[in-house]
Amino acid sequence: MNYSIKKLKERMNKNIEKNKDIILLAIETSCDETSIAIVKNGREVLSNKIYSQIDIHRVFGGVVPEVASRNHLVKIPYIIDEAIEQSGISLKELDGIAVTYGPGLVGALLVGLSTGKALAFGLNIPLIGVHHIDGHISANYIEYRELEPPFVSLVASGGHSHLIYVVDYGEYQVLGRTRDDAAGEAFDKIARALKLGYPGGPLIDKKAKEGNKYAIDFPRAYLEEDSFDFSFSGLKSSVLNYLNSCKMRGEEIIVEDVAASFQQAVVEVLANKTIKAAIEKKSNSIYLAGGVAANTALREEIGKLARKENIHLGYPSIILCTDNAAMIGAAGYYQYLKGNISDLDLNAYPSLPLS
Ligand code: KG4
Ligand code: ZN
Repeated sequence: MNYSIKKLKERMNKNIEKNKDIILLAIETSCDETSIAIVKNGREVLSNKIYSQIDIHRVFGGVVPEVASRNHLVKIPYIIDEAIEQSGISLKELDGIAVTYGPGLVGALLVGLSTGKALAFGLNIPLIGVHHIDGHISANYIEYRELEPPFVSLVASGGHSHLIYVVDYGEYQVLGRTRDDAAGEAFDKIARALKLGYPGGPLIDKKAKEGNKYAIDFPRAYLEEDSFDFSFSGLKSSVLNYLNSCKMRGEEIIVEDVAASFQQAVVEVLANKTIKAAIEKKSNSIYLAGGVAANTALREEIGKLARKENIHLGYPSIILCTDNAAMIGAAGYYQYLKGNISDLDLNAYPSLPLS
């Protein structure tokens, strides 16, 4: 039978010894983006095709897991063809398949994972299971070709809010995480309450630019003195209570001010804790990751504090902040260098822990 881990590892070691260019086909289907990328040596993106299902899910006000899985299934063969064609490489030139196997929606993950297994088996090349957050952080390696760990990373997306010390490639020390809603989830819920649409983050970001961020004093949850954890559910309730009481009293709701004040409450906590983490870890660089890293106010607030402390701040371009397969190819490359091959019975894990 094809796919002998021992033989594949021997080939991987030879490739690494020869300093051969390593070309991976990467797959990301953990939520509502079907994405395929071809990535060379973890840093050079030959193609990064992203099919977003946002228009399909918008009518439901959020991602419907079953609908997401079905659409991944319909789209994935075409996206593979497009990514291969644009990269100018042939299937035979691939050295491995990197695929997200968690965390995420289980049905959605399974579509990408099964596709990855079929390709790895058919081409007799290694399958490399990648953690989605490892991918988000690794987007920075594509953006900054010279970047090397260690550094501090804030990963804030629709499903996660993690403050992480990146010890080495793929090696993470989780300093803090959300105890309830993820930052992006809070943005999406408040946008829905303000009837702005879905996904909420970019819409709140835009509205907030026309509002006064100090108009309403929403609570900032710093939790215990030395904690790097986050909590956004109290803030969310406070905004919803504010909207209800305005309605009951017949007062006008200035959407721009609510958006700006809510965003400021999220961003201040994220920024202060991230800077504190960098100081504690004696790290002189911070890199943002995940969909919320696209937020203009977050970039500005952390940037302002970082400059004061002489800390360098980096973040990926917007297309590499939100879900995409290129970031999975970057993370997969460093797993390849470590000889981390997955077996073909690898399962999808909706709540896969990072370390
Ligand atoms: O990383 P991502 O594409 O998917 C997950 O892994 O969850 O992140 C999507 C999340 C959504 O909640 C979206 O509202 C949020 O990122 N987001 C933003 C912005 N752009 C996307 N949040 C705040 N400001 C933005 N500009
Ligand atoms: Zn993500």
